[in-house]
Amino acid sequence: MRMTIAVVLLAAGPSVAGADVLALTPPMGWNSWNKFGCDVSEKLMKEMADAFVASGMKDAGYQYLVIDDCWQVRRDAEGRIVADPDRFPSGMKALADYVHGKGLKFGLYSDAGTGTCQKRPGSKDHEDVDARAYAGWGVDYLKYDWCNAEGQDTRDSYARMSRALRASGRPIVFSICEWGSTKPWTWAPGVGHLWRSTGDIQDCWDCGKDWGGLGVVKIIDLQADLHPFAGPGHWNDPDMLEVGNGGLNAAEARSHFSFWALLAAPLMAGNDLRTMSAETRAILTNREVIAVDQDPLGMQGRKVRDDGEREVWMKPLADGAKAVILFNRGAAPGSVAVAWEDVSLAPRTKALVRDLWKKADAGSFTGRYEVTVGPHDVVMVRITPAP
Ligand code: GAL
Repeated sequence: MRMTIAVVLLAAGPSVAGADVLALTPPMGWNSWNKFGCDVSEKLMKEMADAFVASGMKDAGYQYLVIDDCWQVRRDAEGRIVADPDRFPSGMKALADYVHGKGLKFGLYSDAGTGTCQKRPGSKDHEDVDARAYAGWGVDYLKYDWCNAEGQDTRDSYARMSRALRASGRPIVFSICEWGSTKPWTWAPGVGHLWRSTGDIQDCWDCGKDWGGLGVVKIIDLQADLHPFAGPGHWNDPDMLEVGNGGLNAAEARSHFSFWALLAAPLMAGNDLRTMSAETRAILTNREVIAVDQDPLGMQGRKVRDDGEREVWMKPLADGAKAVILFNRGAAPGSVAVAWEDVSLAPRTKALVRDLWKKADAGSFTGRYEVTVGPHDVVMVRITPAP
């Protein structure tokens, strides 16, 4: 398997350095934006780091704790970026040390333009000084946005920061966030480790906002053709998770998480880890679903059957099994079936079907599997051919 990964990695793009072994599986962590917006502080981040560990998120595989927009206020006389002294009185190095002390990794946010989306200083023409600052503080992950970048070229702007991060000498995962505007899946492998493929996710099932915000199911639909472009070290990013933020019912939250896993998407939780319900925790820490996301083969899943309101999606796994989502987009319960031909198995194959949400084997089946799926819900299974 290691050989396979190395080969895939080398084939990914000319500028993936041989030593670049970051994000061989999709990054997992937590980001402040979806729940807290600009209301970030050292106090919040420390509490979230504590909750990250106490809640079982760390044990489930989550790693990066990322502050999104609004941590920065200005540049000093030397052009160095300054963290908000009121909200981060101990400075970023101390906060990174605290996060590292918990066995976690630490991430920050900046923007390729002159200012961030919330009008804080951007990194344009300050890429090197910023990358050096991040490395000095102990940053492990940078999300890099695209506001206030009129007239700039995405490839050039992201390549600049990519080079600066590499030159900093610290391994830093580079998360490209230009909202899919220039099809980053066609140029970003080797520049960044992940790239947003759509506008901002919203905490709703199928809403859409004038400014480009998208509900969960709208984002899912936009991923259907992107599977050829993802792999170890280079992932499509359909945006951070809204599980636990209140706008999705239990079925919708389960569907959201299942699809992100099947799509080999980065799993960046965006809810308040300090107060999450048992139901939210059970979704975010379902190890069998997370194992689908983190499967070392690193293939993104795709839609293999579309019967209108009923769909089947499939992700091939390293051990020859198939992760499959039986999806009901409709408003009433309905039966959804997967035929073995849909998922590249010979019809006569006998296979074990395991339900990843029930965490139980459904049994041994030949040719097809059919099950009733609730509205907006999924049944997610692992189909393992008998030896
Ligand atoms: C958007 C980005 C969001 C968040 C926000 C911060 O452009 O897509 O995920 O980072 O900016 O202002």
